[in-house]
Amino acid sequence: MSTKYDTHRPTMSRRSFAGLAGLAGTLGWFELPAWAAPQTPPVAAAPASAGEAYWQQVRQQFLMPPGLTIVNAANLCPTSLPVIEAVYRATRDVDADPSMPNRRKLSDAKEQVRRTVAAALRVTPEEIVITRNTSEGNNFVSSGIDLKAGDEVLVSAENHPSLLNAWVEKAKRFGFSVRRVAHPSPHPGHVAIIDAFRSAFTPATRIVAFTHVTASSGDVFPAREICRLARERGVLSVVDGAQSFGILDIDLADMQPDFFTGSAHKWLCGPREVGVLYVNKQIEARLWPSVVSLYAGAVGVSRRLEGLGQRNEAEILGLGEALTLQATIGRTAIEARSRRLAQLLMTELRRIDGVRVWTSPDPAHSAAIVTFQPGALDPSKLATALYERERIACSARSGADRPGLRLSPHFYNSVAEIERTVATIRKYMNSGV
Ligand SMILES: Cc1ncc(COP(=O)(O)O)c(C=O)c1O
Repeated sequence: MSTKYDTHRPTMSRRSFAGLAGLAGTLGWFELPAWAAPQTPPVAAAPASAGEAYWQQVRQQFLMPPGLTIVNAANLCPTSLPVIEAVYRATRDVDADPSMPNRRKLSDAKEQVRRTVAAALRVTPEEIVITRNTSEGNNFVSSGIDLKAGDEVLVSAENHPSLLNAWVEKAKRFGFSVRRVAHPSPHPGHVAIIDAFRSAFTPATRIVAFTHVTASSGDVFPAREICRLARERGVLSVVDGAQSFGILDIDLADMQPDFFTGSAHKWLCGPREVGVLYVNKQIEARLWPSVVSLYAGAVGVSRRLEGLGQRNEAEILGLGEALTLQATIGRTAIEARSRRLAQLLMTELRRIDGVRVWTSPDPAHSAAIVTFQPGALDPSKLATALYERERIACSARSGADRPGLRLSPHFYNSVAEIERTVATIRKYMNSGV
């Protein structure tokens, strides 16, 4: 099944992200005002030959102590120190003077963050809503698009509950139907995924909703191609980017979805309870606001869809700072580093007798999530032993569908941590838990 889709490498995007820091200058990259600027010594851009010594410096941007190995980025990433400090300083500033005149500057800073998000995703600030998380963005879409009996929504069977159960619940209320597109395991290849969606569309399909990178085994979906299929049929597309925002090079100008959602607290290492929703301005008028209150954004869709009441704007400022840290280190370098650690994991895990790796090693099909079955060991007992006895944190996956452990390394992990993790798993495979 070798086709142009299967050979597409997300790391080597057509428009390489080399020089995001340069882009930062031309697109008005976020610069924190003095009252919020962090104090942690800044890390330099990753050199082409970045080795363990460089990534150790990156690790210093995080609070995790040596000896604690967090390989759980797909669940929750640590917030980096520059973000923590920026949020802290902005919070102090507000609490030292919570008057409206003093807080006005935070609204201006929020608009600057919107411009930074838009530049990173290659869309316009007018198309960005700053939400609380991916779940909220997904639900703003399923609650805000007018659908009725006779209409149909196509969802990938691999979607998170906020893009699956949410549609099913709303279908009960509004009378439309929801149809699942199966996603077989192992990754069937991009052509097979595209074919599955193509044959699932009917004249009644109004929306297609799928996950860019699945949380289960980290399968990468051919998002651009599925969005194109939808567009050709007049169907709206929703791409859940919870597991791609902050790790893959997201070029929405190229992908052309109608909606894209993400959370800052995952791969971006940003603040918790801040997320993004992209809304294509061509179809913006079709999305009703789910919450109508004060403190909306200043431009485009945010004026109608971001009036969510009083927010913690200091956290929103942290979103801009997280993007700036990534731009400084280099997005391409971060992605390549995480992919390298994941590849190392897969190679070494496959060497352990009895281990079955569910994630595809093909870089077109996976990024930095690795799911595997540790033979007959109970996944949740193994995960508990790893954390409580070894200080290694990951996620367990129970049930009949690809049970096992999910390890998701990121740029703050070292090769030594990956080797220690594999050696520890080998030990428990031999001894039992
Ligand atoms: C694919 C996917 N979508 C959505 C979510 C929900 O993210 P949040 O809890 O940040 O809203 C997750 C969380 O793990 C996810 O993996």
